[in-house]
Amino acid sequence: MTASADSHALGVDRERVAELFSEELARFEALHPRSREQYSRGLRHFLYGAPLHWMQQWPGSYPLCVALAQGARLTDVDGHTYVDFALGDTGAMFGHANPTLVEAISTQLARGSTMMLPTEDAAVVGELLAERFGLPYWQVTTSATDANRFVIRLCRMVTGRDKILTFNWNYHGSVDETQVELDDRQRMVPRTGVHPNAMHHEQTTRLAEFNDLAAVEEALAQEDVACVLTEPVLTNVGIVPAEAGFHAGLRRLTRQYGAALVIDETHTISAGPGGYTRAHGLEPDFFVLGKSIAGGIPVAVWGTTAEMAERIWKVLPHFKPGQEINHFGFGGTLAGSALQMAAIRATLEKVMTEENYGHMIGLAERMERGVVEMVRRRALPWHVTRIGARLEYLFRPAPPRTGGEAHRARHALLEAFIHLYLLNRGVLLTPFHNMALMCPFTTEADVDLHNQVLDECLGVLVDEEGRRA
Ligand SMILES: Cc1ncc(COP(=O)(O)O)c(C=O)c1O
Repeated sequence: MTASADSHALGVDRERVAELFSEELARFEALHPRSREQYSRGLRHFLYGAPLHWMQQWPGSYPLCVALAQGARLTDVDGHTYVDFALGDTGAMFGHANPTLVEAISTQLARGSTMMLPTEDAAVVGELLAERFGLPYWQVTTSATDANRFVIRLCRMVTGRDKILTFNWNYHGSVDETQVELDDRQRMVPRTGVHPNAMHHEQTTRLAEFNDLAAVEEALAQEDVACVLTEPVLTNVGIVPAEAGFHAGLRRLTRQYGAALVIDETHTISAGPGGYTRAHGLEPDFFVLGKSIAGGIPVAVWGTTAEMAERIWKVLPHFKPGQEINHFGFGGTLAGSALQMAAIRATLEKVMTEENYGHMIGLAERMERGVVEMVRRRALPWHVTRIGARLEYLFRPAPPRTGGEAHRARHALLEAFIHLYLLNRGVLLTPFHNMALMCPFTTEADVDLHNQVLDECLGVLVDEEGRRA
């Protein structure tokens, strides 16, 4: 694609974006000397200057160093306060230092955090999960990545099949089997930049485009797929909505060809208190949910049906005293801890409420109206998608049908410029995509600030008739 065709498709001038981005970087550096100092120190002993390499991948020259995060706000060590729509990429979806969760977590911390034994909270959490998500049997892990890995392992055990089917431009954590993509000839290759980690993906994985039921059927018809692993709507490449009939077709085909259906709701829990699954009546065999359900304590849960539980117990029966112990190949010393149970219980009972979701979704709708209006007014060929309390804008006129289409609509520099322009004016978006998430503490004024600053940002790129500035 030529630069001008590319600029035309984006609706903005790439060179202008590059120039403006340099100006914003200079502004960022002038505003954040203390964060720079901390980063320079971090570089001495952290491989990428911070404890997690993703922290380096925010749009500024170095990561903000945080002094305090509370509710929907975050303050850095240079004394700037931001409205935070990133919310730890969903880990803080119910607000930073939510007082209800702080109380539940600190009370349990003082009573013992991890004993590798259940507390009375555990049975309550089991009941709450079953009631909310409609699946009777649950296990707890320390991350959504782990939950997906363990569920894949179990699906292989019960079906005796090796492969999984997943979708192009998925993200389910650093699960080796999923780290593949389709190249421009639609062949599955290792994900760009990811080492295949000794995986022979042709033995472990089939990859189809989301919404392509014909490709799903072709992959499943070979009857060697243990499970299909998917988000109900792709959320990690921009948002790719499910077309009408896609989920019904996926469920019919997985049943027909004997593959388990695994729905990963880690991001789409933004849809409502029961996630996308409850809102749309999906019927997964396994349901995975991580990040947001324990007030920032590392945790995820996965649930399954009575029928699948029977199949699991055939392969991995309940333990009988006196037997040799079996590691089962999944688990984790800190998984299911007393601290996690207290945090999940408080989240489910007091925080993931209809009332909080009503507030969060109302604000996301307000943001959506504002962004749709400014994109239209400036004649930008972009669109906005919302999954309940989560909103994303993408540089193409209509929602993509597939992960491949979504990926082609992305533009790293334009994204970085928008993020940095907003950050320099007190608004944080989620790095890695144009995603804004509301929490129970977000206010109308916060949303209006985002919309005002984004409108200014678009104004330096294009005028009201859509002419490039
Ligand atoms: C849908 C989905 N599943 C799983 C994960 C992995 O979560 P974690 O990094 O907490 O293990 C992510 C992370 O972004 C995700 O988006």
